Amino acid sequence: MKTKGALIWEFNQPWSVEEIEIGDPHKDEVKIQMEAAGMCHSDHHLMTGGIPMAGFPVLGGHEGAGIVTEVGPGVEDLAPGDHVVLAFIPSCGKCATCQAGMRNLCDLGAGLLGGASVTDGTFRIQARGQNVFPMTLLGTFSPYMVVHQSSVVKIDPSIPFEVACLVGCGVTTGYGSATRTADVRPGDDVAIVGVGGVGMAALQGAVNAGARYIFAVEPVEWKRDQALKFGATHVYPDMEAALMGIGEVTYGLMAQKVIVTVGELEGADVDSYVNITAKGGTCVLTAIGSLVDTQVTLNLAMLTLMQKNLQGTIFGGGNPHYDIPKLLTMYKAGRLNIDDMITCQYQLEQINDGYRDMLEGKNIRGIIRYTDADR
Ligand SMILES: NC(=O)c1ccc[n+]([C@@H]2O[C@H](COP(=O)([O-])OP(=O)(O)OC[C@H]3O[C@@H](n4cnc5c(N)ncnc54)[C@H](O)[C@@H]3O)[C@@H](O)[C@H]2O)c1
Ligand SMILES: [Zn+2]
Ligand SMILES: [Zn+2]
Repeated sequence: MKTKGALIWEFNQPWSVEEIEIGDPHKDEVKIQMEAAGMCHSDHHLMTGGIPMAGFPVLGGHEGAGIVTEVGPGVEDLAPGDHVVLAFIPSCGKCATCQAGMRNLCDLGAGLLGGASVTDGTFRIQARGQNVFPMTLLGTFSPYMVVHQSSVVKIDPSIPFEVACLVGCGVTTGYGSATRTADVRPGDDVAIVGVGGVGMAALQGAVNAGARYIFAVEPVEWKRDQALKFGATHVYPDMEAALMGIGEVTYGLMAQKVIVTVGELEGADVDSYVNITAKGGTCVLTAIGSLVDTQVTLNLAMLTLMQKNLQGTIFGGGNPHYDIPKLLTMYKAGRLNIDDMITCQYQLEQINDGYRDMLEGKNIRGIIRYTDADR
């Protein structure tokens, strides 16, 4: 079918909303009519080249929710009419890594930036006669998608799509960064560095896990105010102020858990994050740096002698098929505030406005809410 999509044809050029052609679902694939897509910072890394896909053009978008319209042969657990969230990590449940319980590290993830379908290595989308490389095997910046069932999670149909789309990445990644990867325990002091979409979800994870103090570090003033509403106890505009402030509040012990969710991870800043981590504590790097950057500033002696952990995380260490529905039940019960994380809704054509607003610090999360005008 012919529809539209937001494409990138070369680095550092604006998103181009144009005609794309999507093929029919093959074996184990489903077709979805998209209703909403979240605008995560990771898609901006596609544009800067920080996260390069295997080729151009790239179809952006890896947070999304919609309705299944068609299923290919072999699909048994999904049917037309199902409301679903797209998980940016496929999770087959069969490979050795899935079997070991690390569903966020499913072996199918090897193809995440490759663009070809994990079903059979072929491409499902074309634009201007060329194969299109969809972000993390998805491409939610299009009102229709054809994807492998391992990326699709069925949800409660009473959940609004604009809420559901954010648990495909930002909410689950942030929340899990606190509750799973950092393993925040009751009474822990927690620092969150950068309170955008992922950071605000990490903050809520820390609140629900029973943190004592929650320190939010964020340069944008109104986001610091928002962080206080979401449950932060102290806010700081930069790492220098955080180092002084957290030192004072904790009598020099610093934060047992530090979660870094800045827009772009810089190797030169890593020492400042480890510096606000308590001895024996854990500093979780959820933010993503450039794929080609290998330089890090780190005081090695202090890392060793203070027995600190420096830990990466993808999808907050979560299991897409377990965590996505579970977090949505928490939303429904009023224990997870996703409504106030949605700052602004856009049409697909306004995608460049949405990303400009994100970079200017205007949004916690911007989303695209698809209407017939986009299709
Ligand atoms: N590991 C994963 O699985 C995963 C998943 C999703 C997103 N990410 C990454 O997480 C990061 C955050 O994503 P997002 O969508 O929340 O981005 P965002 O742009 O919504 O939020 C980033 C926030 O960090 C703030 N910030 C920037 N520089 C800062 C600094 N030096 N100190 C403190 N705060 C600073 C910004 O003002 C902004 O509020 C990105 O790097 C993204 O690529 C990782
Ligand atoms: Zn994301
Ligand atoms: Zn697997």
